[in-house]
Amino acid sequence: MSFPQRRLRRLRRTPSLRRMVAETALRPDDLIAPLFVREGIDQPVAVPSLPGVEQHTLDSLLAEAERTVAAGVPAVVLFGVPAHKDPEGSGAWDPEGIVQRAVRALRSEFGDDLVVICDLCVDEYTDHGHCGIVRSDGSVDNDATLVLYQRAAAAQAEAGADVVAPSGMMDGQVAAIRTALDDGGFGDVAILAYAAKYASALYGPFRDAVDVSIAGGGDRKGYQQDPRNVRESLEEVRADVAEGADLVMVKPALAYLDVVAAVRAAVDLPLAAYHVSGEYAMVHAAAERGWIDGDAVMAEHVTAIKRAGADLILTYAARQLAEQLNSNGL
Ligand code: PBG
Repeated sequence: MSFPQRRLRRLRRTPSLRRMVAETALRPDDLIAPLFVREGIDQPVAVPSLPGVEQHTLDSLLAEAERTVAAGVPAVVLFGVPAHKDPEGSGAWDPEGIVQRAVRALRSEFGDDLVVICDLCVDEYTDHGHCGIVRSDGSVDNDATLVLYQRAAAAQAEAGADVVAPSGMMDGQVAAIRTALDDGGFGDVAILAYAAKYASALYGPFRDAVDVSIAGGGDRKGYQQDPRNVRESLEEVRADVAEGADLVMVKPALAYLDVVAAVRAAVDLPLAAYHVSGEYAMVHAAAERGWIDGDAVMAEHVTAIKRAGADLILTYAARQLAEQLNSNGL
């Protein structure tokens, strides 16, 4: 009769032993809550494909931010849903644009007790739904688009953003935005670069939340990355770091944990990962059918993203996870 020599189970016997040897600890401080604010509504509007997520009015945004801060989550990232869209997406830099108004409201309510991050792109504001200026052949003009991003960065900074987060995947966007911020006297505003961002089918529910559909059934494969590639992400990240990014992001997260781990090994800046709308929605859809325990799977997903090397996780479950962490742990 032979017995195993190594007894790895000994340290799994009790909850306190397991806690003592846990390698990964998720904290409310690791979480960033994405919030949507919509112009021209007087009641919040639920997003059916993102259970628990709403398009906020300015008032309900403040209330949700209050609950988020109370749960110990340090930061929110804002997305605007404008009442009017145009070919350039001018709502993205209009001083009275919905995100600029929201930033001012959050800043006056919370001062420096909340990190206010603005997603920086034009797709929520363009009538064709692309992340930049569309040429007659349907492609997106990289350099002409950078000028729009510079305007949006200055407007968000002027409104009081702590961090701007360019998500459009134009080449050179971090350098262009850094220049615009510095020239505008906003040298303290940081850049969270969506450095490795894939052309993913997991953004579907997000596009419901921001009322975006891409003209002519188009896609973003001409500017977002191909899911078959990982080394390309390291090139993207290195470029953004060289251009002046203060933090870098991988997106989506769960289906790209190999990318998170590779980027973690390559850079020492804070690394964020975005647990995107489709990843969140799938958990809710399966839980609604009684097929999985939604709270447990959500906690497992986000813990796995941290274990893979992310310091920060953007997730629609941020407040709920922080509340769970504060009450009984995960
Ligand atoms: C672009 C942007 C998108 C998301 C964040 N910023 C959509 C896209 O690239 O099409 C997706 C986030 C999510 O799915 O949760 N402004």
